[in-house]
Amino acid sequence: MSDRMTVTGYAQMFEEALPSFVAVAEHEKADMREMLMYSLESGGKRVRPVLCLAFCELCGGKAENALPFAAAVEFIHTYSLVHDDLPCMDNDDYRRGKLSSHKKYGEANALLAGDALLTHAFSLIAQAVEQKSVSAQAAIKAVGVLSSCAGLNGMIGGQFVDLAMEGKKSTIDDLFLMDRYKTAALIRAACQLGCIAAGATAEMIEKSGQFAENLGLAFQIVDDLLDDEDETSSDKVNNKATYPALLGAQRARELAEEYTKNAVDALSVFGERAVFLRAFALQLVNRKV
Ligand code: IPE
Ligand code: IPE
Ligand code: MG
Ligand code: MG
Ligand code: MG
Repeated sequence: MSDRMTVTGYAQMFEEALPSFVAVAEHEKADMREMLMYSLESGGKRVRPVLCLAFCELCGGKAENALPFAAAVEFIHTYSLVHDDLPCMDNDDYRRGKLSSHKKYGEANALLAGDALLTHAFSLIAQAVEQKSVSAQAAIKAVGVLSSCAGLNGMIGGQFVDLAMEGKKSTIDDLFLMDRYKTAALIRAACQLGCIAAGATAEMIEKSGQFAENLGLAFQIVDDLLDDEDETSSDKVNNKATYPALLGAQRARELAEEYTKNAVDALSVFGERAVFLRAFALQLVNRKV
């Protein structure tokens, strides 16, 4: 364990390394790097990188070695938000209090910026082997987990369900199913890639997955609650099925707390060493943004 084990410590380590992961070819006529950095550096909480680095240390690895994996997950998360805000999706003009990518650079550029972030994520994993941060075997495992968590059986699958459920009558189980894919899957990728970077055992990888599934559901319930309090949120306009809409804010909050407790319980196999991740899970359920 390092003495840097705080949320700010991990997040800062990630912020410092981030520009080096955006090595982009210069094209005189298009400042692609600026477009990517606009969305990558617009004030995200860095929840997924923090989880990735913390799990790497928890499993006995060096957090530095997990930085390329943390960046790969954050690139995919960022692309998912750029596309999520497009007029054909949630149609949000603002993200994190700033103009969304398509409002700033136009829809076609936002589409391409998202595509570039997604593709580049997998280059980062390959580069991590060349730079000797991780073994080739770890990189292959990471590609398998990340592509599955980001794709049809993960985040994109969840976004399809999200669109299909718009304006329809949904049950709480429909919401859980959607959010296991839409949100929990990428959080699982973050946690499991951290373990993989450290060469963790199959049991550790499995337990980190259980932690993430529960944390991910709690995370989306809180996101829905915060959106519900925010008058500028698009959820109501788009007639989204959300936890507060279905259950009321109080029951939704209780559910978020139950899932956070399940997440914390899944860490028991790691013993005292998981103190940071326990505290982080509690911090996330009480977050205000
Ligand atoms: C927002 O995720 C989208 C969801 C999956 C709920 P975050 O709340 O982690 O977004 P940023 O990166 O901190 O803005
Ligand atoms: C999660 O859903 C977004 C993705 C999986 C991309 P939301 O649509 O609720 O996320 P926000 O509220 O726009 O951040
Ligand atoms: Mg959405
Ligand atoms: Mg949205
Ligand atoms: Mg939301």
